[in-house]
Amino acid sequence: MTTATAPTGIMGRLKSETAPQHAEAESKPLEAALIGGSINHDQYKKYLEQRWIVHRALEAAADRALAQDNRLAGLGLPGLYQTDNLVADLEFLEADTRAIQPMKGAAALLERIQSAESPAVLMGIYYVFEGSKNGARFIAKALSKAWGKSDLSGLRYLDPHGEAQRGLWMKFREDMNAIDWSHSEQDAMVEAAKDTFRAISALDDEIHEG
Ligand code: HEM
Repeated sequence: MTTATAPTGIMGRLKSETAPQHAEAESKPLEAALIGGSINHDQYKKYLEQRWIVHRALEAAADRALAQDNRLAGLGLPGLYQTDNLVADLEFLEADTRAIQPMKGAAALLERIQSAESPAVLMGIYYVFEGSKNGARFIAKALSKAWGKSDLSGLRYLDPHGEAQRGLWMKFREDMNAIDWSHSEQDAMVEAAKDTFRAISALDDEIHEG
């Protein structure tokens, strides 16, 4: 899905240059099952477990980057973190986080996160997960309807900000554009975002087939 707005700056580059990878990720059978409300309990649990592994590492790496690069301070990253939401959802699903092992796609993402050679690379990875909250709200609505739910239990990861989502995304876009990323940082960020989309698509397939 796309909109008519054409953002500029690094966020414009990220959006337009990763559009094919977004289209691929969006069309994966697991995503179709999520948005169609047909995902089964085991697949949904596995999906959240693998996202938990990734977000835990990503947010720890973001904390380290925040301590090293004060250009990131204005992004308000800790207010956007998802690990606590995933823990709450997994508790609701009675998952045992101590027993979770990374699948291949998640292991590839962990490797990319842990070896991120610069804050720009890390933010390329981060962008993909932050942006995914836009579509995830639609998924939360579809699952809520399919499962006849009246609250957000088990759906916090997919709808962490409720009505504030749009405004928070606009702010993230503005704050990212306001940072004076060099050309080489921008190129590295776009490449990291493309790799991240590819790894998520591979992970989605593993979960769907597993
Ligand atoms: C059922 C699957 C999905 C649907 C329906 C969907 C839909 C959407 C929608 C409607 C937007 C907002 C577009 C806009 O307002 O400009 C969006 C943005 C975005 N989505 Fe998805 N999406 C899906 C899956 C994913 C996945 C799996 C990822 C990656 C984990 C992802 C990452 C992103 C990113 C990074 C953006 C921001 C694009 C930008 O820079 O504006 N999406 N998506």
